[in-house]
Formats: sequence, structure tokens, C-alpha cells
Amino acid sequence: MKRITMKLNVATVAAMAAILAAPGWAADASRVNWSVAPKSEITLFYPGQASLEFVTGKEHRKGAAKAVLGGENCLNCHKGEEADIGDKIAAGKRLEPNPVAGKRGTIKVAMQAAYDNQNLYMKIFWPAKEAGAFHEYVVYKDGKWENYATNRNNAAVAAGKMKASYEDRFTIMLGDGKSVPAFNSQGCWATCHNDMRYMPNEPKKAEVQAHPILGAAGMKKDDIRKYVAESRTAMGPTGGWDKIKSKPEIDALRAKGVFLELWQWRGYRSNPVGAADDGYLIEYRAFDSGKNPFFGNWDGAKGQPIFMFDPARNQGRAGLTEAEFRNPKAPLLTTKNRAPYDPNYKWKNGDLMVKQGLQAPEGSAADNAVAATFANGGWNLLWTRRLNTGNKDDIALKPGETYPIGLAIHDDNVTARFHHVSFPLKLSLGRKDGDINAVQIK
Ligand code: HEC
Repeated sequence: MKRITMKLNVATVAAMAAILAAPGWAADASRVNWSVAPKSEITLFYPGQASLEFVTGKEHRKGAAKAVLGGENCLNCHKGEEADIGDKIAAGKRLEPNPVAGKRGTIKVAMQAAYDNQNLYMKIFWPAKEAGAFHEYVVYKDGKWENYATNRNNAAVAAGKMKASYEDRFTIMLGDGKSVPAFNSQGCWATCHNDMRYMPNEPKKAEVQAHPILGAAGMKKDDIRKYVAESRTAMGPTGGWDKIKSKPEIDALRAKGVFLELWQWRGYRSNPVGAADDGYLIEYRAFDSGKNPFFGNWDGAKGQPIFMFDPARNQGRAGLTEAEFRNPKAPLLTTKNRAPYDPNYKWKNGDLMVKQGLQAPEGSAADNAVAATFANGGWNLLWTRRLNTGNKDDIALKPGETYPIGLAIHDDNVTARFHHVSFPLKLSLGRKDGDINAVQIK
């Protein structure tokens, strides 16, 4: 009975998708005869605070750090150990000072891939106990808007003072195999450092804000996210967050192709519009040019939403009710049904508003088309991406080549590093030397 309800609910979400049409190019992984593509089973594991500095430092078993620095692939030593490592770290026995209650150590992903003259297609399944198709909310209380729900790693949520709500995500990191060589053998660890947010040597907000390039005078950041060593003038024992190269130097690296692609399918912020987002990383996590599948709906300076539902298009209501919190039948805020936030609307205590809304992606940010359903005990994704998008912020894929990739899943209302990740993997197009081998189709 429960499953049937979920299917109907997901159908409601899918119906919304049709309202904001996805990319204007042929994107239909559902046309593929998947029986011709081999199925790979890949185990993602919970990594805790295991960073590049950990795997290249003296805490990593003697000899292992040297091997990693010498270009030895993690899987040469760790093949089949995903569950041992993931279970130990998720339980907080190693490398995890803040274990997330009930976090599983591993997630098994089933993946298939195919390609034709135009596109790469991927079919992806992983088990999940509920569809994380919802994100953050705010609530109206006595004339003010307050946070109502966010990720489980937030201190207020962990303390039981706020509700947990954060979307599920499936992430693919992709390299061209040459421009960021460490990614070939170290996988995502090439981008993960001890001085990033939620890591042991995270700098204070004020320190980042005061930094001439990253801070208020430059990129306007207040935390540190993924970066590759190529973007730093030097790397130290905890990373190199503050040793960032100048903007002209970073621009020159990007022009030369020194970046990794980072694609994220998001259960709330991209799925209803039939997309995954499209980003890349060099000195920080960035989005491709164009328009993301989502827009922010929170004005921090005013402490209020930017948009509300247009009551004329939402049964006379501008907000959501508490009964609509994480309810698949609740309307989604989109560019088609929003209106500018009106502080004079008759807001009532307990009215909810979503902190993000949905829009049709455009430009290079619209390169990943994904159709997803939550059925058979998990997420089923059908992913399409043109082999060569023609965009400078993308890697052009060529048949007959093999590419380094890394995978990650965020589920169970977590964010940032509280995810499951893969060891370094390879995706081949028309070859047999990958962990995932895409077959050629007509
Ligand atoms: C030369 C072999 C070798 C290579 C290459 C290697 N490791 Fe290790 N790693 C080890 C050994 C040995 C341990 C200690 C295992 C133990 O104590 O049971 C370890 C421990 C770990 C741990 C801690 C978990 C635990 O069970 O103690 C993590 C996480 C880890 N390695 C990740 C990586 C990653 C990521 C890479 C690639 C970037 C990598 N390792 C490459 C040999 C290696």
C-alpha cells in the first residue's frame, strides 16, 4: 500500500516537471535498450574526514602515504574494503568526530552506460528508504521568518530544535585524464582537504572573509569548498586554502582545461525540472555559465523570502501549511507560480515557505538532462549528456577513450562531507578497461 502511494506522489512531481520543460536538445536515455549495456555494481562508502592530507600523511598506514603520493591507485590496496572502511568510519570509530545517527556505512549503486553519435546515457539505481525530494524551509512566527528545517549536520537540527529536511543528491566528478593527473589515482580525494568546511582545520568565517581573493574584496566567500592543488601556489600539511592563485592565473588554467567537472542531480533543486546541475571545480566549486535549475528564495539582509506563491495560482494561498512540509502533494515554487514576496499578505503563524525554487536551466548549466523516479526501493535515474557540449566549461567526451570519474551520494538529509563516495573509478566509451563501460548504440 505504501509503495503505491509513493508512486502516485512521484507522478505528481513528474507532472510538475512537464510545466518547466528541460533542455531544448534530444535527451532521452529512456529510448536506450538497457539490456545491451553491462551492469556495474559499485560500492560507495562513508569517508568521514579522510582527506587528501590524511591519505598523504603519516596517519595513513606507513608506506600508504608514499604510495598515494607516488601515484598508486587507492584500489590497489583497498579493493573490496569499502564496507570495512565505511562501517568503521560511519560508526565514529575512526576519522569521524560527529557521527550521524543511523548512518549506513555503504551504499551499493547499480550503473549502466551507453553512447551514440550525440550523447552519453547512464542508468543509475541506488536503494534509499525515502525519497529525499525536499529541501530547506522557513516558518512565519510572530511577524518574523525563522529557519524551520535544514540538514542533519546543522547544530540546531542535531540538538532536536529544528526539523531535518535536505534533498538527496547523486554527484559525478569527471576528469579528462590529463589536466588534473592526481584525480586519476586519488579520485575525489584530489579535491578534498583538511581546511574545507566541516573538516578539522576549517578556517573561521572571518578569516575567509578577510582573504583578499576569496573574501569580501574578491569572491565573497565565507567558507572553503573543493579545490585542486593546481589552483594553489603551495600546499601544506592541512591544505592550501589561503594560498590561492590570482584570478588571471585561475582563468588561464580553466582556458587550458585544468578543471574537473562536477554534475549534481538533486532530488529537489533539479529533479522536478528534468535536470542535474552542471558545475566544475578548480579553485572553488563553481557553476557553469547560464542558469541553474534552481533559484534562491531567501533575502538574508531583510530576513524574508524573495518570492511567495502567487495566491491566484495556488488556491488563494501565498505559503504552505505545516501539513505540506515534505509532502509530495505540496506545490513546488517555480518561475510560473511565484509572485514577489508581500510582507502585507495575511501571514499566519506556522505558514511555511521553501528557501529555494525551481526554474528551467539555460546555457551551459543546462547540459545534464535526467529523468528520475523513486520506485522499487530506491532512486532510478536516466541521465543524458551530449558527448561534446561545445561549451568551454565542459569536458568533451570521445568514443574510444576512458575517463577518470568519482561518484557520491547524499541521502538521509545530509550535506557537505556527510556523504558516501567511491574510490577512483574509470568510465570507458566503447572499451572494456573501465569500472563502468559504456556500449555504443545506434
Ligand atoms: C599502498 C597501499 C595503500 C594505498 C595506495 C592506499 N591505502 Fe588507504 N590504507 C592502507 C592501509 C594498509 C590502511 C590501514 C588499514 C588498517 O589499519 O586496517 C589504510 C587506511 C585507510 C583509511 C582508514 C580506514 C581504516 O580502516 O583504517 C582510509 C579512509 C583510506 N586508507 C583511504 C585511502 C584512499 C582514499 C586512498 C587513495 C587516495 C588510499 N587509502 C590509498 C593502504 C593503502
